[in-house]
Amino acid sequence: MVPLPERLRGKFIVFDGPDGGGKSTQIERVVRLLDGHGVPVARAKDPGGTPIGDRIRHVLLDFDLSEMDVRCETLLFMASRAQLVGRVIEPALRRGEAVICDRFVSATCAYQGAAGYDMGQIIELARFAIGRTWPDVTIVVDVPPELGFQRTGRPVGAGRSSVRENGQRMIFHDAHVDAMEARPLAFHRRVRTLFTELGNVYPRPVRVVDGTADVEVVHQRVLEALDSVLSTAGLE
Ligand code: TMP
Repeated sequence: MVPLPERLRGKFIVFDGPDGGGKSTQIERVVRLLDGHGVPVARAKDPGGTPIGDRIRHVLLDFDLSEMDVRCETLLFMASRAQLVGRVIEPALRRGEAVICDRFVSATCAYQGAAGYDMGQIIELARFAIGRTWPDVTIVVDVPPELGFQRTGRPVGAGRSSVRENGQRMIFHDAHVDAMEARPLAFHRRVRTLFTELGNVYPRPVRVVDGTADVEVVHQRVLEALDSVLSTAGLE
């Protein structure tokens, strides 16, 4: 059997999940593993990751989302992603690199889905935005929102006056009003549920990994999940 890092060559792997789940740490671990085996890796972060994508990120960052229609928000995420796919992900895959991407269409399904947008429509929009460049595997690092907040040290907001009906305000951690503080726990619970149910509607394989254990245990679970998907027919 070819070792797992070798089998990740030329594959597109996404890590996603609720905030505070530890996906960044897990990405670091997998990148280190690939580096150690001499497998070339391209890293990507969605949204942003290109000069145009960064400007779109800026729009999402600088405006009070209570003023933004959820369809506008969804299209902006898709626009940034289209640029990332065309300029970063597809060229890297063509060069035979493993692409490790932090969030992707899966995040729009969960977050904008939790904000009331239909998941089927999100996937249809994504078909236009990303064409055939769907991830070979999406790993959802799952934690209950309470633990996610505990890990990031951020308080859960109960909703504020200018917050949208669904509890959203600013999306990004680095925005002047933090999304974490602006969204109520109920929103994050919906996000988590949609992430765990994603595999039922997503066009490509999704594996949910329990992210509550310590980093090394979660890393082993991630490797098992990658191995199980890559071992199935058609992905060898
Ligand atoms: P980050 O935690 O990966 O920096 O992502 C920033 C926030 O943006 C996070 O709370 C999730 C949210 N988000 C969406 O709402 N929709 C999307 O499509 C993406 C990619 C992120």
